[in-house]
Amino acid sequence: MFLRDHWYVAALSREITVVPLSRQILGEHVALFRTEAGVPVALADRCPHRGYPLSLGMVVGEQLVCGYHGFTFDCSGTCVAVPAQDRIPGRANVRAFHVVEQGPFVWIWMGRSEADLSALPDTPWLSDVERWSAVSGVAAINASFELLVDNLLDLSHETFLHRGSIGTPEVATTPIEVEVADEAKVVRVYRPMNAVECPPFYARTTGLEGKVDRWQDIEYTPPGYYLLHARIAPVGEPPRPDGTDDHAYHMKILYGLTPSSEGKVLDFWALSRDFCVGDAEIDRFLENMQVGVVQEDVDALNILQLRSDELMEMGEVSVKIDRGGLAARRMLSAMGEAAMSH
Ligand code: FES
Ligand SMILES: [Fe+2]
Repeated sequence: MFLRDHWYVAALSREITVVPLSRQILGEHVALFRTEAGVPVALADRCPHRGYPLSLGMVVGEQLVCGYHGFTFDCSGTCVAVPAQDRIPGRANVRAFHVVEQGPFVWIWMGRSEADLSALPDTPWLSDVERWSAVSGVAAINASFELLVDNLLDLSHETFLHRGSIGTPEVATTPIEVEVADEAKVVRVYRPMNAVECPPFYARTTGLEGKVDRWQDIEYTPPGYYLLHARIAPVGEPPRPDGTDDHAYHMKILYGLTPSSEGKVLDFWALSRDFCVGDAEIDRFLENMQVGVVQEDVDALNILQLRSDELMEMGEVSVKIDRGGLAARRMLSAMGEAAMSH
């Protein structure tokens, strides 16, 4: 069962063009395209005439023309033209989904009720190109949404799974603090690593050397929005009482977790930094690094999914590093129960 009344990332902004894209989201096929005026649109990917995927059709102006017999739809999914007749059957409309474009992402509301714009994740740094630079991407994983939640909520795996890239010993050896805001529906996991070795990718991009303070603060808003705040600063330079933190280097790593179908999940990401802003070479370096890191997660989760039957039978052994993941599981199952009783 999927949690429908929430915002999910549907696509990277750059993926949506006048050539329609087919994507399965929460088990539904959705046709995503941009009109010639540049407006992103999401329609149910099934023509009401004979069921041909609308994503195989063609954008003409502000409309989408079915690629089979030419039924034509406007951005609200209303059928506006049928070949060889003037009368348009009342049932020929398709569902339109509410989408919002923000920075590198297009978010979609899959709920049956009206889209709740107040619940849309607020990501101002993704549009603030003066102060932040971002690289983004997406990976399709043949594993359940829940396995991706587990993965992201426990970053101690960086030390082992990502040992060749971002992992350093201290990620796994530093205890975490977990905070659960049940009302606000947020799970926070803090990992302050003080006076630790500067990982090579930070040394390369910040120019810092030797020991640094490195903090990783996770903020997970189930189901689909995860934000990792990373802060790195010379040893012993915490944020000042006046709230300024300019001597530190910051990254915000946003993950959009979008269930595709049962046992499949889309892993969208945007890695933003407030240093080397506008540096295209650093963009490429961080993009390559992140693509490699995400692939390591994809490979691990694909294997876990193949073994998932066995896992269910044998159970798990949870320890302290799992507290964030367990809190997220509890919150998700409470949300699932609440949605069911509606
Ligand atoms: S299936 Fe779309 S017009 Fe016939
Ligand atoms: Fe990972």
